[in-house]
Amino acid sequence: MGKLAQDKTAFEPHPIIVARPGVPGRAQRVRIGWKNDAQGSNTLLSRRDFLIHAAACAAVPFLPTRAFARSAYPTRPIPKTGEPLPVVGLGSTKAVSQLTKRGTAEFKVLLRTLLDGGGTVVDTWSRSAALDKLTGDALQAEGLVKDLFLATKVDAVGAQAGRSMLERTRRLFGKTSDLIQVISLRDLKTQWPILKEWKDADKARYIGATVSSDPDHNAMMHFMRGERPDFIQVNYSVVETDAESGVLPLAADLGIAVLINRPFMNGSYFSRVRGVSLPEWAAEFDCHGWAQFSLKYILAHPAVTCVLTETTNPKHLLENLATAYGRFPDTETKRRMREVMQFI
Ligand SMILES: NC(=O)c1ccc[n+]([C@@H]2O[C@H](COP(=O)([O-])OP(=O)(O)OC[C@H]3O[C@@H](n4cnc5c(N)ncnc54)[C@H](OP(=O)(O)O)[C@@H]3O)[C@@H](O)[C@H]2O)c1
Repeated sequence: MGKLAQDKTAFEPHPIIVARPGVPGRAQRVRIGWKNDAQGSNTLLSRRDFLIHAAACAAVPFLPTRAFARSAYPTRPIPKTGEPLPVVGLGSTKAVSQLTKRGTAEFKVLLRTLLDGGGTVVDTWSRSAALDKLTGDALQAEGLVKDLFLATKVDAVGAQAGRSMLERTRRLFGKTSDLIQVISLRDLKTQWPILKEWKDADKARYIGATVSSDPDHNAMMHFMRGERPDFIQVNYSVVETDAESGVLPLAADLGIAVLINRPFMNGSYFSRVRGVSLPEWAAEFDCHGWAQFSLKYILAHPAVTCVLTETTNPKHLLENLATAYGRFPDTETKRRMREVMQFI
C-alpha cells in the first residue's frame, strides 16, 4: 500500500462553507474539499483548488450538500421504468487500473466526489481477481455502494466463464447489479441469454450491451431491434458523431436508455484542443472549458440518458458534473461546434 493510502488523514473531508446566492443568511456545508497529502502537494482536491474551480464553474448556481446535490442534480428517466438517472457518471477503468499500485484511498475520494457532486452512476469492468477485490473493497467502504448506480460488464467467452464472472462481480458489489452489459457485443449469442436469466432471477435490475467504435454501430442497431435491451452504451462526442445518424434516434424510438462512452476519445481530444482558445460563443450555452464543450454537445441530444466520463482527478470530475447545469447548444450551434473541431 502506498504512503498516501496509509495516511488516512490526507483524505479526510475538509468542510467548506459556501454561501447560497439568493437565500440571504443561509449557507451550505459541503464535504468536497480535502486536506493536502503528506508531501504537501495538491494532488487531491485542496480547498484553494476547489474554490478556484467553483469560481470557474459559473454555471453552478451554488454548491450543495450531498443530500441536496442528489435531489437537485439534473437527471433523465430510464425509459423502461421512469427511474431518474443523473446525467453525468464516472467511467472507472483508469482509476481502477491504478488500484494495485496506489491503493484504494484515491478511488474512494473520487467516489465521494461523485456523490457529493450529485452523481451516482459508475461504470465498471471486471478484470483480474486482484483488481476486482480492490474495486469491491473501495465500493463497499463507508456504505458508498448503496448510493451508487453500479453498471458492470460481462467480458467472457463461453457460458461457464460468463456465469463465473457475473458471480464474482455480485460478491464484490455486495448487492444486485444495477446494470449488466455485454461488453462490445462479445459472445453475444451466449452471454445475452445469461443476462436475461439473471434479470428474471432479480440478480440484475437492467441489462444491455456496449460498443465503443463507429464500425460496430450497425451490429448494435441490429441487436437493439431484435432484443429491445433496457440500456445500450455507445461512443459519441463532438468529434465522433456517427451515433447521431442511427443509434441515438433508434434508441429514442425503441425507448432504450443510452450511456455514452469516449466523450473525450479516451483523452486524445485534450491533445487536440491543447493551446486552442475556446470560442467566445461557447459562453452562450454556459460552457466554460473544452471538457464541457464535448459534454454539452453530447447532453444536448435528447436520446442520451447519461454520459460516462473517465477520470482519476476529482477536479475534473466536478468540472464534468457541472456540465449538467445551465443551457445546451441548439441544432445550429451544434453544427458550428462540429465545424470548429474539423479545423483543430
Ligand atoms: N466497450 C466498452 O464497453 C467501453 C469502451 C470504452 C470506454 N468505456 C466506458 O466509458 C468510460 C469512459 O472512458 P473513455 O475511454 O471513453 O474515456 P474519456 O472519458 O473519453 O477520456 C478519459 C480521459 O480524459 C481525461 N479527462 C476526463 N475529464 C477531464 C477534464 N475535465 N479535463 C481534462 N481531462 C479530463 C482523463 O484524464 P484524468 O484522469 O487526468 O482526468 C482521461 O485521460 C470508461 O471508463 C468505460 O466505463 C466502455
